[in-house]
Amino acid sequence: MGDLRLVLRNLISNAKAVATVAPSSRALSRAMLRGIDWAKTKCVVELGAGTGPITAQLVKAAPPGTRLIVNEFLPEFCQALRVKFPSVEIVEGDACRLAEMLAERGITQVDYVLSGLPLTHFSPADRDFVIDQAAKVLAPGGEFRQLTTAPWLYKKLYRRYFRDVSFKLVLWNLPSGGVYTCRDWVSPEARS
Ligand SMILES: C[S@@+](CC[C@H](N)C(=O)[O-])C[C@H]1O[C@@H](n2cnc3c(N)ncnc32)[C@H](O)[C@@H]1O
Repeated sequence: MGDLRLVLRNLISNAKAVATVAPSSRALSRAMLRGIDWAKTKCVVELGAGTGPITAQLVKAAPPGTRLIVNEFLPEFCQALRVKFPSVEIVEGDACRLAEMLAERGITQVDYVLSGLPLTHFSPADRDFVIDQAAKVLAPGGEFRQLTTAPWLYKKLYRRYFRDVSFKLVLWNLPSGGVYTCRDWVSPEARS
């Protein structure tokens, strides 16, 4: 089954989780990786990989030896990811278990967390939980990057979690979207 059909079929049964009508375009997927310093990157985690458009770019761009951990919640998407990317560690399950997923694999630090999760559909508590877990495992200088199909709308939301948030618009996607790049975590105690 093609990726578009797979997304549409799962959208019908899991609209809140899938939260998109099509896989991200190549332009948006590439934008998620733009500027990654691969020479200094040892580990990248992708959350909410769907049918794998960002994973495909990751696999192309990451030099051999870079550890890629790819998470997805829906079994059918995980199955498709395993077929397409046999050499990648596909971790089926809820991204809310991120800290455990990494601990089970002996990973204590990651350089980038690339999130395709529909975080704005999460409850505030779950959103705090996922972002804070991601931020805590980031290596110094590491980045949390969030995909969006609602350009600029959520900059304020991500500023709750990170002092430094920039946004890159990507028109070539259905619908147009972009990437938030977030650095310098604000701990829950320091939030207003
Ligand atoms: C907006 S789609 C993005 C898919 C893909 N990254 C892309 O760019 O086309 C959101 C993805 O996050 C997954 N997802 C939603 N909630 C999740 C959760 N709690 N844990 C892991 N994955 C989740 C959905 O199943 C879906 O595949």
